Amino acid sequence: MNSNMILPTPYYIVYESRLRHNLDILDEVRRRADVDIIMALKANALWKTFGVIAEKFPDSTASSINEMRLANDYLKGKVHTYCPVYTHSSFPQFLAGSSHITFNSIVLYQRFRPQIKQWNTEHPERSVSPGLRINPRCSVIETDIYNPCVPGSRFGVNAENLPELPEGIEGLHFHALCESSSYDLEIVLEALEHQFGHLLPQVKWLNMGGGHLMTRKDYDINHLVSLLNRMHDRYPKLRLIMEPGSAFTWQTGDLVTEVLDIVEDAGIQTAIIDASFACHMPDVLEMPYQPEIKEAFPNKEKDSHPGHNYRLGGNSCLSGDSAGPWKFPHQLKSGDRLTLRDMNHYTTVKTNMFNGVQHPDIYWQPTDNSTPQLLRRFTYEDYRDRMD
Ligand SMILES: Cc1ncc(COP(=O)(O)O)c(C=O)c1O
Repeated sequence: MNSNMILPTPYYIVYESRLRHNLDILDEVRRRADVDIIMALKANALWKTFGVIAEKFPDSTASSINEMRLANDYLKGKVHTYCPVYTHSSFPQFLAGSSHITFNSIVLYQRFRPQIKQWNTEHPERSVSPGLRINPRCSVIETDIYNPCVPGSRFGVNAENLPELPEGIEGLHFHALCESSSYDLEIVLEALEHQFGHLLPQVKWLNMGGGHLMTRKDYDINHLVSLLNRMHDRYPKLRLIMEPGSAFTWQTGDLVTEVLDIVEDAGIQTAIIDASFACHMPDVLEMPYQPEIKEAFPNKEKDSHPGHNYRLGGNSCLSGDSAGPWKFPHQLKSGDRLTLRDMNHYTTVKTNMFNGVQHPDIYWQPTDNSTPQLLRRFTYEDYRDRMD
């Protein structure tokens, strides 16, 4: 950021250069592996940044009418839709705004099949390709809340219940990964082919869901490319699709806060900040994980440094609105600024206004290092009108 610029805290800041860096990596994968990469809106709905994304990746995947509308309005590419359920009242809107619609069960597909047939007859130029979500029952994710293949999962049809392809289904969809590597994908693909391999030559497309963290530094792109190219060799007519969310906005933004007070109990020092884990960084509590802080020692290294331990406390009244400890090279005091790293993907979309605490501003830092642009400032009216 422009070093003369002191913005009022708390604020999220998204860096154009980092976003473009991620898009370049995804573009390389797309070219080398001949795969369609579409952005999952659930991880990022900052539509004022969509102009940059749509330059290379206008296509997306939506999981609600609102996401689908946002994609149609601001990305303007194809929208693949997957929702666990559809209703008769909402389905016509999905048909009008989607290029692909994936169903979570055979019953659901049969319920809406007549509407798809009618739509495709009346709108051949905007026909919708129906798909079915399958469950490869292969768990490579340790945290159950993020594991779509956990036993008893409500997502997708398992192989026992899918002896043959329902008539009219054009694609298969699975989602089994979360912040995963290409080696995890390899394990899932092996399980998938073992159970559903006979169906793959019968469909036009295979959507491999999200969770492919291709923009993480240690991700083995070469391995992914060879894995996908081997899939092309085995199923030459099958169009491969990936729909990552996190990989697009991984490490593209920070949350900058200020220390407002330091309290102590039972030997634990807590620095109260002007932001909340519960409201502004909910994944820190849900996932759970400990974000890196620019001004603290890296989490992995902290034991090897002398320093001062602090827990950070949010400014809501929830008892559990705290995280840490982090180790700092110096003692913290009121007025210190702290930069919590990697606070864009799944963060800016999941915030809430619990307790009515002030929502952080959202800034965009252009690549040329010019003045950050304010994308959004939240007001009392935003809080009030959600309850209207
Ligand atoms: C069906 C589906 N597709 C794509 C994604 C995006 O996953 P990620 O952001 O981990 O890449 C998710 C995440 O929950 C999902 O449920």
